[in-house]
Amino acid sequence: MAATLGGGFGGQWSVEKLECVEAYISSYLKVMQKQRWELSYIDAFSGEGIQRFKHAIQSRKHESEDTVNEAYAEAFTEGSSLRALAASKEREIEGGRGFDRFYFIELNKAKLDALRCRILSQFPDCANRCVYICGDANKELPGLIGNMDWQKDRAVSFVDPFATQFKWSSLECFKNTCCDVWMLFPLFAIIRMLPTSHLPSEDWCKALDEIFGERDWRNLYHEKTQLSLFGEEEVEREKGVDQLLEYATRRYRQDFPGVWGPAVLRTERNAPLFALYALTANHSPQALIVSGKISRHLLNSIGA
Ligand SMILES: C[S@@+](CC[C@H](N)C(=O)[O-])C[C@H]1O[C@@H](n2cnc3c(N)ncnc32)[C@H](O)[C@@H]1O
Repeated sequence: MAATLGGGFGGQWSVEKLECVEAYISSYLKVMQKQRWELSYIDAFSGEGIQRFKHAIQSRKHESEDTVNEAYAEAFTEGSSLRALAASKEREIEGGRGFDRFYFIELNKAKLDALRCRILSQFPDCANRCVYICGDANKELPGLIGNMDWQKDRAVSFVDPFATQFKWSSLECFKNTCCDVWMLFPLFAIIRMLPTSHLPSEDWCKALDEIFGERDWRNLYHEKTQLSLFGEEEVEREKGVDQLLEYATRRYRQDFPGVWGPAVLRTERNAPLFALYALTANHSPQALIVSGKISRHLLNSIGA
């Protein structure tokens, strides 16, 4: 499967990501088997229920004398929303318990409608447990999380944006909750905003301040050892993604007692695209031990 950078098409990395989150959900439901809490799954960027892949194939039919056209074959895999429902249903078929509620947040109404149709046809018996919210996750998620009662609620949330849509101020809604968060950090999109030989433009600085919820990402830059031709002080940063990932991990640790990963998801050409983190917001030592053990195991299996 081909991965197209920055485009809407996934690759092997997106299947790994989805399988990892689905496996976590299965384990989570097993752990919660005998607990009295109300269990919710919250998909903040839910999509349409399937993830499409495009890969080019040469088609003889489309060849003419002087041109060779490419035809596209489309393939897809179940997306995070349908996988969460499938994992939940599987637990119930095995005699265990599934989620009591599923919340799906999606900006694009057509995608949300498509998701609703898929759920009605594939999981009709779960339809009355599903809540569909059409809107910006940055606005809708804090409202939803803020209305939960952590005396009786527990939740798993998946935050799976295409790029830098998710602000730090929105992630903060999970602080001090009892929610486990699987977070896709948009490594490629952010590294593109951080030139190696000078500070980003003013617009990008503002955007990075919102993404990280602080100004400290500027510490990725240090003074150049040599002054410029005009004697001005200039800055640079180390090439590559390692320092950015160290900074992101430190930043997550400021708000979450459990930070596992990251597993760097790469294209088939080995370019780093995203970094997958598991974040535990619950301060309970027992919750941290259990979620840490499962998350580390799953993230290690995809290269953390
Ligand atoms: C990477 S896709 C999510 C894929 C999904 N997790 C799946 O496995 O099928 C990102 C989705 O977020 C939606 N989206 C983009 N910006 C958003 C926002 N600000 N709030 C909510 N959804 C958004 C897009 O329409 C897209 O469907």
